[in-house]
Amino acid sequence: MNETRSAGTGGDTGIGMGGSLPTVTARAHANIALVKYWGKRDSKLNLPAQGSLSLTLAALTTTTTVHFDAGLARDHLVLDGQVETGKAAARLSAWLDLVRASAGISLAAEVVSANDFPTASGLASSASAYAALALAASRAAGLILDARALSVLARRGSGSAARSIHGGFVRMQAGTQPDGSDAWAEPVTGGPGEPGSDAEWPLRMIIAVVGGGLVKEHASRDAMEHCAETSPLYAGWLACVPGDLVRAEQAIRARDLDDLGQVAEANALAMHAAAMASRPAVVYWQPPTLACMQAVRALRKRGLAAYFTMDAGPHVKVLVHARDASEVAAAMGAVPGVTSVISSAVGAGAEVISEVIG
Ligand code: PMV
Repeated sequence: MNETRSAGTGGDTGIGMGGSLPTVTARAHANIALVKYWGKRDSKLNLPAQGSLSLTLAALTTTTTVHFDAGLARDHLVLDGQVETGKAAARLSAWLDLVRASAGISLAAEVVSANDFPTASGLASSASAYAALALAASRAAGLILDARALSVLARRGSGSAARSIHGGFVRMQAGTQPDGSDAWAEPVTGGPGEPGSDAEWPLRMIIAVVGGGLVKEHASRDAMEHCAETSPLYAGWLACVPGDLVRAEQAIRARDLDDLGQVAEANALAMHAAAMASRPAVVYWQPPTLACMQAVRALRKRGLAAYFTMDAGPHVKVLVHARDASEVAAAMGAVPGVTSVISSAVGAGAEVISEVIG
């Protein structure tokens, strides 16, 4: 795997002193894009067509434990207490092969992962999942990767996961290299220094869960490719991203919530317009999704700085200042069809929470 560099400890195989590999648990938070990733320049390497920009969220967490075990005949994945055997398990094994190749091992892995929010519902579970996995699996295989290499590895599992390696506001580079070595994420320069500390710019994301967080209809991976192939609006979507990225970064550096919110809203609507124009159409919205957008506009009319964004699902995420969070959460909770509301502070980057040797 030539894109992933190892700073290396414990040699190429990473076998510990006792001859076996450690069991590593890592945690990562989901992120919500304010300038979306929607379209690839290479689907095999999962390379984005354009950059993107996100906010990491403290309230949406995946915790994952990985152990490469000589006693296992094949990879074993337990997700939210359920043994997975289908597509998710096959996708995970193909991704684990990248880690095994990089570490020079051939052992199967036990992966136990849990989300504290609904999985595969458009709440960005693949972002936190593959970010936590990249950290836990690389360490469990004996590799110590720097943040850039971790981001590249996470990206191979899910494009948005590259961003969840970091906390706060994160910018993803599309890169130009065919091998993807320059398609990685990093914190936004000049962004608030301490994610989650609230010291500098206390923001919240209010998540209005629509329809109980059921599994989404169109996986983002397939839907964005279908959109690129069939939507007459896809080219227009791609063309608006570079300018939106510049404007979003300027707004972050200026701590200008209104400007950041306006560009985030416009960008989300452009992404969904391109998706809806696909043939056949990809429509993620449900009636409560539109009602939430209307409720956000009504809050703005009353003078609140509140701005919405939506991803590959019906839920609406609203960016607000911390002082307005409870009022906005109550307004979202009052929209018929909203089944729960999550209020999240800004989250930190992926971290190892335990490493047990032997
Ligand atoms: O990382 P993926 O393949 O699940 O794609 C994420 C797509 C969006 O959530 C809609 C946008 C984004 O940038 O996160």
